[in-house]
Amino acid sequence: MNYTFQLKNIEEYKEAYQKSVTDPEVFWETIAREFRWMKPWDKGLNWRFEGEGAPVIEWFKGGKLNITENCLDRHLQTIPDQPALIWEPNNPDEHYRILTYRQLHQKVIAFANVLKNNGVKKGERVCIYMGMIPESPIAMLACARIGAIHSVIFGGFSAQSIADRIKDGNAKFVITCDGSFRAKKTIPLKSIVDDALVQCPSVERVIVLTRTRTPVSMIKGRDVWWEDELKKVETMGNPDCPAEEMDAEDPLFILYTSGSTGNPKGVVHTTAGYMIYTAYTFLNVFNYQPEEVFFCTADIGWITGHSYIVYGPLAVGATTLMFEGVPTYPDAGRFWEIIEKHKVNIFYTSPTAIRSLMAQGESFVENKDLSSLRVLGSVGEPINEEAWHLYYKNIGKSRCPIVDTWWQTENGGIMISTIATVTEHKPAFATLPLPGIQPAIMDPEGREITTPEAKGNLCIKFPWPGMLRTTWGDHQRCYDTYFSAYPGTYFTGDGCLRDANGYYRITGRVDDVLNVSGHRLGTAEIENVINKHTNVVESAVVGFPHPIKGQGIYAYIITEKEILQEDASLAIADIHETISRIIGPIAKPDKIQFVKDLPKTRSGKIMRRILRKIAEGEMNNIGDTSTLLNPEIVENIKKGKMN
Ligand code: WT7
Repeated sequence: MNYTFQLKNIEEYKEAYQKSVTDPEVFWETIAREFRWMKPWDKGLNWRFEGEGAPVIEWFKGGKLNITENCLDRHLQTIPDQPALIWEPNNPDEHYRILTYRQLHQKVIAFANVLKNNGVKKGERVCIYMGMIPESPIAMLACARIGAIHSVIFGGFSAQSIADRIKDGNAKFVITCDGSFRAKKTIPLKSIVDDALVQCPSVERVIVLTRTRTPVSMIKGRDVWWEDELKKVETMGNPDCPAEEMDAEDPLFILYTSGSTGNPKGVVHTTAGYMIYTAYTFLNVFNYQPEEVFFCTADIGWITGHSYIVYGPLAVGATTLMFEGVPTYPDAGRFWEIIEKHKVNIFYTSPTAIRSLMAQGESFVENKDLSSLRVLGSVGEPINEEAWHLYYKNIGKSRCPIVDTWWQTENGGIMISTIATVTEHKPAFATLPLPGIQPAIMDPEGREITTPEAKGNLCIKFPWPGMLRTTWGDHQRCYDTYFSAYPGTYFTGDGCLRDANGYYRITGRVDDVLNVSGHRLGTAEIENVINKHTNVVESAVVGFPHPIKGQGIYAYIITEKEILQEDASLAIADIHETISRIIGPIAKPDKIQFVKDLPKTRSGKIMRRILRKIAEGEMNNIGDTSTLLNPEIVENIKKGKMN
């Protein structure tokens, strides 16, 4: 494995960055040639961010390839016996598994044939709801092998959320497990899927893998066992499964994410651009060296898992480690034990994980050998300086660079980040844009601020290969959400500042999107669910700073009948139950305050700014309330603030 695009020093970074701006098409085409194509592309890039039908984003259109040939077949000639995937189970007493590139290839081929046998065709959507086991990436890659579009659903989402996603994608196929292990608990995945399927007549086939031996209901004609289906293809001999020829711009997957309005939207990523972008960013940001072990702690149900457990590492022939459990089971030393056991070289986790483990004391780290570590990464939310320093000292022993990687589901891969051993890190800064990324900071009037030091809203001016192409089933929504606020650019929804050296610090969302433990949630989405609850008239949800989770959820709720003091805790538990059922437990508010009214403007709009200030505890800094229709309510809400 040797890629000419691996940057070695700051000069190479500067040169690459310059090239990527002056001639982006040639820059990415040169990189694309290091991958395996069935047919070359017609045009490097077609794009238009404005006007009718926009956005138009096409990279390498007309080129034919299959991502699994690049992630698997290609490596069989060079590193067939190198571990592709190391899997560490929830329970440390269960044996870990290692799949070499040859073994992973074989498993993907076999399951791709299972999918074919079950009628899955190119372009069809397949929902995957299975937890953190090797069969998850196997299922994803098997879909990609035959050109089916996977839609992975995070294991913490409810039956209703699964149903919404199945319906939105009109999926006929679901792949799941009987259950999944999480610390001491077993989550009955198939049973949750069954609840979802009551609403989804489009689903023709459910393939169920055995993991926990949780009793499940299997419906004749619809539900089949993964193991039985595998036996069927195995008795057919040792069939190959030729990789389906895909256009560079054929969809690879849909992944749902929350925004400031409406239901979650299906972000669509396509084949070649996504592959090249995840490979390029993985190799460079983490400075991956042959045979190193890379451990990304994200869940496969989020974009980080897609891009940096599966596609990015495999595309460059890396060894990727995947962990089924939680960081605190059996104790808060679990991550460090895994690093010691598998001699992990690169460790990629979230600020929430760092903060919560550090809060448990250093004893869980002190007795572990972390000397294999060379690079540390952070993702998902801003990392505060205190957490940064603890990570640097206690885990990296002050010798490992920290790459604070800023990016989003819509971006496909890392956008602004330190590049390990190439560029300098700076606590709490994502630092510099990667080659190919052209950030712009906008002032309140929508003009780009061109001075080095700047503060404002973050946009990206030029397409990059990993960016979203559309939102599934609703292209207009893609335009409205990302391309309409600042015409001609992609708007990230994040605020940021730039220092005199051109280093970027991402300060958090400027829209009504919350980031709770690195999980993205729309306030409107949570409000809609709360409003469904009986007795609720109206609600407003805002974020507040949370020492561990980064942001916590604060809900103000108006009820029809007054909730008596002695009934409050039950009423809160009831609302939690409604949210868990409709979205999932991750969206439960940390604090609920029952109020008589919400501060509103004369046009009836809720003044969230005021509610945010109160939730943040900034009681004396509420600002102007004179434009309110009901200014007297502010004092009332302040008095009832939940601590
Ligand atoms: C939002 C995207 C893509 C990784 C997983 C989250 C925030 C992400 C950072 C960072 C500050 C960050 C942003 C962004 N975010 N990484 N390094 N520093 N903020 O993906 O669910 O699409 O959320 O996460 O606010 O907009 P996501």
